[in-house]
Amino acid sequence: MSCVVAQPALDVQAIRRDFPILSQRVNGKPLVFLDSAASSQKPTAVLEAMNHAYCTAYANVHRGVYALSEAATAAYDAARAKIAAFIGTPEPECIVFTRNATEALNLLAYSYGRAFLREGDEIIITELEHHANFVPWMVLARERGLTLKFIPIREDGLLDLEALDALITPRTRLVSFAHVSNVLGTITDPAPIVERAHAVGAVVVVDGSQSAPHMPVDVRAMDCDFFVFSGHKMLGPTGIGVLYGKRELLEAMPPFLTGGDMISYVGFDGVRWNDVPLKFEAGTPAFIEAIGLGAAVDYLQALGMSAVRAHEVEITSYALECISTLPGVRLFGPLDPNRRGGVVTFAVERIHPHDLASLLDQEGVAIRAGHHCAQPLHQRLGVNATARASFYIYTLPTEVDALVRAIERARVILRRA
Ligand code: ALA
Repeated sequence: MSCVVAQPALDVQAIRRDFPILSQRVNGKPLVFLDSAASSQKPTAVLEAMNHAYCTAYANVHRGVYALSEAATAAYDAARAKIAAFIGTPEPECIVFTRNATEALNLLAYSYGRAFLREGDEIIITELEHHANFVPWMVLARERGLTLKFIPIREDGLLDLEALDALITPRTRLVSFAHVSNVLGTITDPAPIVERAHAVGAVVVVDGSQSAPHMPVDVRAMDCDFFVFSGHKMLGPTGIGVLYGKRELLEAMPPFLTGGDMISYVGFDGVRWNDVPLKFEAGTPAFIEAIGLGAAVDYLQALGMSAVRAHEVEITSYALECISTLPGVRLFGPLDPNRRGGVVTFAVERIHPHDLASLLDQEGVAIRAGHHCAQPLHQRLGVNATARASFYIYTLPTEVDALVRAIERARVILRRA
């Protein structure tokens, strides 16, 4: 089988030259990195932007009236503005920097959830959430006597949105769901959920961990109330993530963490909070990482997010086509590449995914095996673990071929061919 596309969406060979890590060998074989859904690799532009900031404009932000501090603050503010534009909001003040999507969701559960949800209220999430969008709501529900409900998945891996009418009630206060599933790849159209949730006055949280890195996102067109994502899955460094919120909601919410920078006044008589977004950014922020994320956004925008998405549809179609021809392999999630992101999750008959991943590693092929931080979904699918290959802008069709060869070799080694 070969992947022939008349006019590929991206010049992947040129892109790969920007990622030094991809040219190395692992276990004597060329590295085939197929775990970008867990964390992506970084281009030199991101590493250099951070290095440049450390070498030329490093001093604490918002605290100095001297040139270096002002330069660092300006670079931090510029990164916030770039990220705002990247997800379609003209208001940089609506971008709160967090450590990652997990922290952004915890911020919402602690701040919004504890301020505005009351005993008997309902939160709706889905059966396909990763733990970051599951555990904070479950903890909140147990603590506050809330009801946690789940939008079911259908056999084809899409959400059963027809169930929404029965699930959403006047007691529903918050609906939170993954824009793209990190396991099934399912892309969920926010529109029908936003419409029904808003009709009963509930707020909508969209977990963009697997969508913001891979497709155009416009939070204003989506009309979601909150949108979260992590920098490290989209070419940026670890330790930086984003919470977008509508201004009036962020302004009404109490702080999550308290301390320096998130106050406008502290005295023996009390404190006053700073304006948004600084009200939610206590302590010295990860501003070098924010600058790195700004450079990642520049890099992605130079490629064009529509081209990024088109490349992933090409590579995912090819992977689904190749893997589905292998005997004894079960694929999970929607089979239509237009309805899924760049992840292909599968199980090989009578081979534990961890054994498979170890054998693939011998061939230089890095995939993820296990429950992918989505144990409830695996319970729902009736399996303990799966194997997952995930793609990004630097993935070549020949790497899908290497994956397929390595799976075939694993089956032979384990005498299950
Ligand atoms: N949620 C991340 C993944 O899918 C860690 O691998």
